[in-house]
Amino acid sequence: MQHIFGYKDNLKKPVYNWFPYKEGFSYKLVDYVWERVGKPPFISDPFMGSGTTLLRAKELGINSYGTDVSPLAYFVTYTKTKNWNFTEKDKEEVKTLSLKNIEGEVNIPFELFPLERAFPPRNWQALKKLRWWVEQKTELHLLALITSAMKCSFIYKDGGVLKIRKRPVPDLFKTFKRTLLRMMDESSLIKGPEPELELKSALEYNKKTPLILTSPPYLNNIDYTKVYGVELALLTLSRNVSNIRGEMMASFIKRKTQSQGSIPIKEAYFQESKIALERFYESLEEGGFLYYNISNSILNGEYIEVDTMLMELMEEIGFKDVKIVKKILRNTKIDGKIYRARESLIEAKR
Ligand SMILES: C[S@@+](CC[C@H](N)C(=O)[O-])C[C@H]1O[C@@H](n2cnc3c(N)ncnc32)[C@H](O)[C@@H]1O
Repeated sequence: MQHIFGYKDNLKKPVYNWFPYKEGFSYKLVDYVWERVGKPPFISDPFMGSGTTLLRAKELGINSYGTDVSPLAYFVTYTKTKNWNFTEKDKEEVKTLSLKNIEGEVNIPFELFPLERAFPPRNWQALKKLRWWVEQKTELHLLALITSAMKCSFIYKDGGVLKIRKRPVPDLFKTFKRTLLRMMDESSLIKGPEPELELKSALEYNKKTPLILTSPPYLNNIDYTKVYGVELALLTLSRNVSNIRGEMMASFIKRKTQSQGSIPIKEAYFQESKIALERFYESLEEGGFLYYNISNSILNGEYIEVDTMLMELMEEIGFKDVKIVKKILRNTKIDGKIYRARESLIEAKR
């Protein structure tokens, strides 16, 4: 079976690979949906993440709309889907850039540990200066710096946890220049209509649409604001991400905000999923389709058939012909252990 889940295919494709987003799905999943329903005049992705649906829509000349509560997801999708126009002069400026000519630097606060520990001193010095420099430039410059900084740090992501492992890492200044020049070259490859984007919760979704293709957070107790905490800190230059954490769908235990009170995570997840699914149902045109990519979970040792439970919710809400159209068994890392869980693509009709 052709594998249409997972983000690995995107890593081989220009622009799609500007930000490694492990939670992303493959652009092939978007193509699979076109195969089933034909190319629509419009498509929405209310949990857009790194913008795979919207970028593929742009590439195929389709208007689209996306939301996410994470400023990082918004920023990455915006930068990947914008019609950029860089000149030879812009590229020349990057080629001739030298660290000693950058006169300012920023302070980069981080909530979990002093960020300085995550970089060799030379890369840390370069990062503070380059972050100051890109502030006067474009979002593309900043995205190139964020992805380069992660490659040139001691950080590695172990499931939902950030770890520091001292090892030889590439030089940040050189990596940044090379990455930025490559991105500038690639930025004119995908032409098409820019999507409309909003920093907004899917639980408030209200855009009329014939087609929704989306992948909500999985019930895996992974806190995106932690896993992408360094990227968020580099983007916002702010220590405080607890307001973003509060907005995130209940898929992890929000220890900092306690906004779930005493409701167990599983119940909170299905309650919020129901609200989102009701919003999607209301907003879909008559005869329109919802495609929902989800993975089953293991939580506190219990295997949870998230897909079948969501399908029941969809039927309760009024969706018709609810079925799984693609599935695969995948290894998934939960609380440090590897389990096999089903990942599915659910199709539902309004
Ligand atoms: C599985 S990822 C989507 C990945 C996307 N399909 C891609 O290819 O990059 C789920 C996304 O939902 C976002 N999210 C979490 N809670 C949300 C909410 N209440 N409303 C909208 N987006 C939310 C997360 O920030 C994350 O980017």
